[in-house]
Amino acid sequence: MNLEALEPQARDIIRRYDQRRAAVLPLLWLVQENFGYVSSEAEFWVGRLVGIAVSHVREVVSFYTMYRTQPAGRRELRVCTSLPCVLRGAEGVLGRLKQRLSIGPGETTPGGELTLTEVECLCACEIAPMAQLDEQFVGPLDGASLEALVREALRDPKASGQIQEPQPFIDTSGPVLSTRFKDPEGTWLDAYVADQGYVAAKKALSMTPAQIIDEVLRANLRGLGGAGFPTGRKWSFIPKDNPKPKYLVVNADEGEPGTFKDRYILERDPHALLEGMLIAAYTIGSHKAYVYIRGEYFRPAKRFQRAVDEAYARGWLGKNIQGSGFDLDVVVHRGAGAYICGEETALLSSLEGGKGFPKLKPPFPAISGLFQCPTIVNNVETLACVPFILREGAERFAALGTPKQGGTRLFSVSGHVNRPGLYEAPVGVTLREMIDKHAGGVRGGRRIKAVIPGGISAKVLTADEIDVKMDFDSLMAAGTMAGSAGVIVMDDTTSMVEALQSAVKFFAHESCGQCSPCREGTGWVNRIMHRIVEGQGRLQDLDDLLGIARAMEGKTICVFADAAAWPIQSYITKFRAEFEEFIRTGRRVPQEVAECRP
Ligand SMILES: Cc1cc2nc3c(=O)[nH]c(=O)nc-3n(C[C@H](O)[C@H](O)[C@H](O)COP(=O)(O)O)c2cc1C
Ligand code: SF4
Repeated sequence: MNLEALEPQARDIIRRYDQRRAAVLPLLWLVQENFGYVSSEAEFWVGRLVGIAVSHVREVVSFYTMYRTQPAGRRELRVCTSLPCVLRGAEGVLGRLKQRLSIGPGETTPGGELTLTEVECLCACEIAPMAQLDEQFVGPLDGASLEALVREALRDPKASGQIQEPQPFIDTSGPVLSTRFKDPEGTWLDAYVADQGYVAAKKALSMTPAQIIDEVLRANLRGLGGAGFPTGRKWSFIPKDNPKPKYLVVNADEGEPGTFKDRYILERDPHALLEGMLIAAYTIGSHKAYVYIRGEYFRPAKRFQRAVDEAYARGWLGKNIQGSGFDLDVVVHRGAGAYICGEETALLSSLEGGKGFPKLKPPFPAISGLFQCPTIVNNVETLACVPFILREGAERFAALGTPKQGGTRLFSVSGHVNRPGLYEAPVGVTLREMIDKHAGGVRGGRRIKAVIPGGISAKVLTADEIDVKMDFDSLMAAGTMAGSAGVIVMDDTTSMVEALQSAVKFFAHESCGQCSPCREGTGWVNRIMHRIVEGQGRLQDLDDLLGIARAMEGKTICVFADAAAWPIQSYITKFRAEFEEFIRTGRRVPQEVAECRP
């Protein structure tokens, strides 16, 4: 095959976008899927097709971790070494894989069968320790499943059998978000419609945008991507007198370590998201919506595309939806491996075909977002709540929550619990209830040492701080944040030094590098923590770490740098004696944590 043979497909891709250069990432995917990597010739080809300089294409290729510029193995095994996997033995798993495959991360087996890659969080922490073989998630990796993975990984992909599907604990008790998670194969249009699907959309299409905004405001729906901004208020910021097109952009770039909720909506209940999108788009006057799905979510993207195709076929997307006169087109867009693209302005930069660089706010996207047009960026889960609100009424949704935050949330629980999994609960559930009642308590009956309540960026809580409600305001009052509701539980075998090292490694890897306090700060902190864990630390390092963290806060384009500083501050402040002991004795991590659990 040569590049010219791909031109018809490439032109189809370009046609989906309102600006040609926005097609850069999908064109690079097209090349990689067909040739295994992106050659310099392909970079020229992409540049020519979308009308940009090859230097720009090259910059984009080098920014994202999933594009390869050299031929690699026929298969790729990505092993996660982020904190939730580390807590369940990821380092041992990686060590065993290196031994069994006789290669290290970044290397390919001599016969060219397999490339081994070490990656940051794949957001499948419910099956930690885990890996991804080509497109499939595999875990938890214990002795037997690890051996099966090695056998499978070395087989010809065409002749390979299916690896056993993981069976994590997924709550289906609802009432808002999880009732249609029962079927691991997904809920498709007929089943969705039979379960009152699209009733809310029909109702919304007969309401005025102002009435819908009022309903969503009264429901107290807050943005569930992490910031908790009231959704109705955000929608109301779209200027009515601006003649430019308006865009709805769905943030499905789920990347916060410890979080795996949006994946289940995309895979098991994609029409709930589509229905929420239809209502949101109608409300803000948008006729084009883009869904930005993280690159590693191969299956979620395929499942969601299937739902989009169904909706077009049955008149729930496209022109004159259900005879209402309202038109909406949806484009499924895939990222390519960059956590920072979850930040909304970085996501828009990426969607415009560039590096995932955050932009200074203001202007906020509602005023000037995608292609400098008014844009609403909403998280998958936020939008999936909207059909319930319109169907069951704002009061019912509001009553499920706390006075300032309505509804339920999907809590991703990982780490040292008996039942890592996904749990829907009212936002006022306490962290202790979430761990003890929902996730089955701490494994082995051990004591809790620390809990991260809202993804790796949230400040850590100690065992006696977990009687706190999980809504945005209560967790903020407790000095941390609800964030993405990714709960990471650490028992008393955990080395807080090693846990912090894992967190800072993540931030150093993911900084986009635009601001020096962030770029230099995360790198510096990572080097100091590495030295401490290697037994070469000095007591002065602790104050240096706190000083660097202080210098990273509030001085950068986006809040990534602040989020990178919070774990440093909270771990060292709350567990200082343990850090000092570690440095004094040069002690490496406790055996329970370092050993390969499988
Ligand atoms: C570093 C960083 C990473 C983020 N990652 C995500 C993400 O993966 N998914 C998400 O929906 N929001 C993420 N956000 C929040 C988004 O910027 C934005 O607030 C959100 O998508 C808005 O949707 P909502 O109002 O529905 O929550 C991130 C923010 C920051 C600063
Ligand atoms: S704070 Fe960090 S991630 Fe955010 S723009 Fe600056 S360098 Fe990039």
